[in-house]
Amino acid sequence: MQEEESMMTQSAAKTRPAHVSESTVMDIDIYNIPVVDCDVGATWLDIKARAPSPVIWSEYNGGHWIALHGADVKTAFMTPAIFSSTDIFIPPNGSRDNVLIPLEQDPPESLLYRKVIVPPLMPGNLAPVTDIARKTAIELIEGFKPRGGCEFVKEFALVLPVVVFLSVMGLPLEDRDYLYSLAEKSTRPESPEQRLEGHMELKAYLQHYIADRKANPRDDLLSKSVNAIIDGEPITDFAAQQFVLNTTIGGLDTVANLLGFVMHFLAHSPDHRRQLIERPDLINNATDELIRRFGIVGQGRRIMEDTELSGVPLMKGDMIWAPTWMYGLDEQIVADPLTVNFERPTPPHMTFGGGPHVCAGMHLAKREIRITLEEWLPRIPDFHVSGDVVVETGGVTGITRLPLVW
Ligand code: HEM
Repeated sequence: MQEEESMMTQSAAKTRPAHVSESTVMDIDIYNIPVVDCDVGATWLDIKARAPSPVIWSEYNGGHWIALHGADVKTAFMTPAIFSSTDIFIPPNGSRDNVLIPLEQDPPESLLYRKVIVPPLMPGNLAPVTDIARKTAIELIEGFKPRGGCEFVKEFALVLPVVVFLSVMGLPLEDRDYLYSLAEKSTRPESPEQRLEGHMELKAYLQHYIADRKANPRDDLLSKSVNAIIDGEPITDFAAQQFVLNTTIGGLDTVANLLGFVMHFLAHSPDHRRQLIERPDLINNATDELIRRFGIVGQGRRIMEDTELSGVPLMKGDMIWAPTWMYGLDEQIVADPLTVNFERPTPPHMTFGGGPHVCAGMHLAKREIRITLEEWLPRIPDFHVSGDVVVETGGVTGITRLPLVW
C-alpha cells in the first residue's frame, strides 16, 4: 500500500524578528509537514524530540512560535488575557470582515454568544439529533456495504456531519447534497483564498434561512442564534451571520477529519476492532481515547504582553500556534501516549481545546464518532485500506481520502 501526503502551500518568505533567538528556530512549515505513516501525533512527537527548545520559532507563514509541550498548549488556551483569540489564523487574517463569532473574540465578549449555543448542545438536549445521526450512519453503511468498499471520507465522514448540522440548525435535510458540496469546497481548499470563497458561499446559502428564522422563529439552534439577545440588545445582522457561520464550519470539517483518522487506525488494527466488537461497553471510553490520540486542531493566538513559556521569552505582538494534540500526547501528562488503550481511565486530552473557547459542539462531535463505531463495527467488522491515503496538515489536520475495502 502506498500512502501519500498532500499539503497546502502557504507563504514561502521566511521571517525572524530580532528578538527571536536563533537557538529557538526550527525549519518547520505547519502547512507542509511530511506526515509519516499518516500518523500526525507520532510525526509531531518526533519534531518535539528534535526541537532545539520547548517552544520553537517557525520562520514560515509570517513567522510564529509553536508550543510543543502539553503544559504550554494548555496555558495558551487557558490564559486569554495574554494569549488572545482575536487572531487565530496563521498567518493572521489582518481583517475582521469575516470574523468568526465567538471563536475570534476574547472573553467577556465571546461568552455572551456562547451562552446562546452551549446549552442546546449539552448532552441532555441531543436525543433528537442522535436518532437522526444513527439513522443516517446505518443508511450510509448499509448502502455501500454490498459493494465491498468505499471512499470513507467522501461517502461517510463528510456526509454524517452535514446531516447532523442540518438537523441541529433546523434546516431541511433535502439540502444535504447541496450543503455537502459547499462543505467540501470550504474544507478541501487548495489555498486560504479558496477557503474564504467557500465561507462566502456558505454564508450566501445560510442568508435565506437566517432571514426566515428572524421573521418566523422556531425551536432550533438557528432561530436561537439569529434572535439572540447579546448584552441586552438584539444581535446585529452581521454578528448573526458570523455566529451561524462559526457553528457551521466548526462542525463539518472537524468531525470528518477526526473520523478519517479513527477509521484509518482501525483499518490497521484488527485487535482493536475485535476488542470493540466483543466488548461494546468499551465504546464510550474508546471514543475518548481515539479523540485523545487523534487530535486535529492547531490554533493560533496573539501575544498581548511580554511573557514566557517554558523559559522561552515571547514578545507582545508575536503569534503562537498551539497544536491541541500535543497535550494528550505529552508523556508528562499521559503514560505511553502513542499507544491506543481503550481501557485507559478518562483519557486526558485537549482535542476540543480548553478554557473560555472550549468546543461548543464537543458532546455532539463525540456522539457522532461513537455512533460510527457502534454502527460500523457490527456491520463491517473486518476492513482495510485499499489505496492511496491523503493527509493534509494545517489549522485542521485531516485525512482527505481514505479508500477502504472489506
Ligand atoms: C471532532 C470534532 C471537533 C473538534 C476536534 C473540535 C475542536 C474545537 C476546538 C479545539 C475549539 C477551540 C478553538 C479555540 O480555542 O480557539 C472549538 C471551538 C468551537 N467548536 Fe468545535 N470541534 C469539533 C466539533 C464541533 C461541532 C460538531 C460543532 C458544532 C455543532 C463545533 C462548534 C464549535 C464552536 C461554535 C466553537 C467556538 C467556541 C468558542 O469560540 O467559544 N465544533 N472546537
